Amino acid sequence: MLLKAENISRIYGASCGKCLDKTGASQNSSICPICKSIVAVKNVNLTLNRNQVLGIVGESGSGKSTLLKILYLIEQPTYGALYITQPESFKNKNIFSLNLIEQNLYRNVYTSIVHQRIENGLNFNFSAGANVSERIISSGQRNFEYIKNQVNNLLEKTEIPTSRGNDLPEKFSGGQQQRIQISKSLANSPFLLFLDEPTTGLDVSIQAKIIDLIKSLQDSYKFSIILVSHDLSVIKHLTDITVVMKNGEIVEKGLTDQILEDPQHPYTQLLVSSIL
Ligand SMILES: Nc1ncnc2c1ncn2[C@@H]1O[C@H](COP(=O)(O)OP(=O)(O)O)[C@@H](O)[C@H]1O
Ligand SMILES: [Mg+2]
Ligand SMILES: [Zn+2]
Repeated sequence: MLLKAENISRIYGASCGKCLDKTGASQNSSICPICKSIVAVKNVNLTLNRNQVLGIVGESGSGKSTLLKILYLIEQPTYGALYITQPESFKNKNIFSLNLIEQNLYRNVYTSIVHQRIENGLNFNFSAGANVSERIISSGQRNFEYIKNQVNNLLEKTEIPTSRGNDLPEKFSGGQQQRIQISKSLANSPFLLFLDEPTTGLDVSIQAKIIDLIKSLQDSYKFSIILVSHDLSVIKHLTDITVVMKNGEIVEKGLTDQILEDPQHPYTQLLVSSIL
């Protein structure tokens, strides 16, 4: 096992103390009827193995991005704990309670994220290459030759011509910008990659190429992935196991093939039938 999330909840607003009981899939609402707080994530438990790809699927507003941001430590959980089994020094420690230096190591060295909004993932004032090198530097590298080679290597791997490394992100198409964001996310050689809606907003033909790219990168580097998508075809192509979220809660989890072929929860049945 690589990662374990225990009972994660996130309440936006001044909770009345009863929010968790009054919201969720069975209540069909994320809004507490007493205090109007939003329970974006409710009692989420997850485990992920090494080299495994986990999908989080659900409609817009079901809490997927909030959960992913909590797992990447850029959003605070209201309750819950998170454990990873590597590095050795992090074992059996709640990641949410680590000090800032250790949390920076988690974010900058061991894991990475591809944001849903490209503006959150790329610095538009830096060239494509500088976006990637900044990430290499923040993971602790200082050797200029190594950094330069690694930038070119990553741009090549994501099929961005290295001759365009000095161009600003705005000079690239949406699909290319996403490739640069993926390059950047791999620049620290993470063992765990978070992907938030990596194909949403791209042309359908480009979507398929980005899916292929992620698949081939994962095949060669063997990092684990937690991938958020509202799109079941992305989930189908990329993931081994899937959790289905509704109103902040996981309503179904299991092997992706099984969930798609034989969904158990009525909500999952609805999602699956809507793509047939
Ligand atoms: N910073 C925030 N402040 C208040 N409410 C938020 C915030 N971020 C997300 N939410 C709410 O939490 C719920 C889940 O949002 P989100 O995690 O973005 O869902 P998804 O990614 O599945 O579309 C939504 O109701 C959203 O409006
Ligand atoms: Mg989202
Ligand atoms: Zn409440």
